[in-house]
Amino acid sequence: MEKKKVIVTGCNGQLGRAVNREFAQDDRYELVNTDVTADIKLDITDVDQVVSFVKENAPYAILNCAAYTAVDKQESDVDLSMRINAIGPRNLAIAASETGSKLVHISTDYVFPGVSDHPLTEFDPTGPVSVYGKTKLAGEEFVRQFSDRFYIIRTAWLYGDGHNFAKTMLRLSETHDELTVVSDQLGTPTSAKELARCIRSLLPGEDYGLFHGTCEGDTNWAEFAEEVLKLGGKDTKVRHVTTEEYARNNPQSAPRPAYSILDNYMLRLTGGYTFADWHDALKEYFGDGLK
Ligand SMILES: NC(=O)c1ccc[n+]([C@@H]2O[C@H](COP(=O)([O-])OP(=O)(O)OC[C@H]3O[C@@H](n4cnc5c(N)ncnc54)[C@H](OP(=O)(O)O)[C@@H]3O)[C@@H](O)[C@H]2O)c1
Repeated sequence: MEKKKVIVTGCNGQLGRAVNREFAQDDRYELVNTDVTADIKLDITDVDQVVSFVKENAPYAILNCAAYTAVDKQESDVDLSMRINAIGPRNLAIAASETGSKLVHISTDYVFPGVSDHPLTEFDPTGPVSVYGKTKLAGEEFVRQFSDRFYIIRTAWLYGDGHNFAKTMLRLSETHDELTVVSDQLGTPTSAKELARCIRSLLPGEDYGLFHGTCEGDTNWAEFAEEVLKLGGKDTKVRHVTTEEYARNNPQSAPRPAYSILDNYMLRLTGGYTFADWHDALKEYFGDGLK
């Protein structure tokens, strides 16, 4: 059986790496790994490069794992944020539609204003308040506009093989007896491995559209830190503080959403992938050696 070609952009990122591990066990697909610094270089902001590379490969699907994820930096770097998070997916959508390829694009809880009294579904109104949220929303809109066989998956609090909150907590615990962490921002930590499993389960089907894809359950950053430290066998204590209190000593340029709990409503309605509870996914992450 001939393998289906799948182009991965941003293959060196957390999700790019998780996708590689997840698809390694699936002999239906052959991955073509690309990144700005990889053996195969592909800068998603360059439309000519993207269209000619995609045409050359005529893939079954493109998985867009590339993004500009440093949320604070983007507040003063709007153009680069727009290029990577909006123009990039636009270019991939144009290329995907020219070759009839499927496109998987990843988005974020930051497209919402961060205030809600219920878990947010795909049908709740967006309203980003940060540059990152605005450019990611523009990316979603371009994908809808330029491609037809797309899956947009909004995830949140992602961790995997790369820089993330869990690793920062473990690193800081080496030099601190106590860590100060906010407890009034709610969301759900989601492993890149679970998200990669969701992508692999969606890919062969025709259930296109917008999906929320986060682990089950919810928590706040301070409790998440406590769970990370417990699983890491650390004695470091966590001091729970409000966002306001934290910001007094640690100014952050991008506003953080107070409420980021997403409901995977479309996956439930369509009988799609059921994510693991966040505690179980985190245990698995430690079992996998933080990859
Ligand atoms: N991390 C989170 O907490 C989180 C939460 C919600 C949603 N998401 C979304 O989930 C997706 C995956 O995130 P992640 O955490 O895996 O991101 P990541 O670890 O930051 O990886 C992104 C990758 O994209 C590459 N990249 C940057 N600019 C590029 C360009 N112009 N062309 C091609 N590649 C480029 C990066 O390379 P360099 O490192 O060299 O720049 C990096 O390898 C993103 O869409 C993100 O917005 C993430």
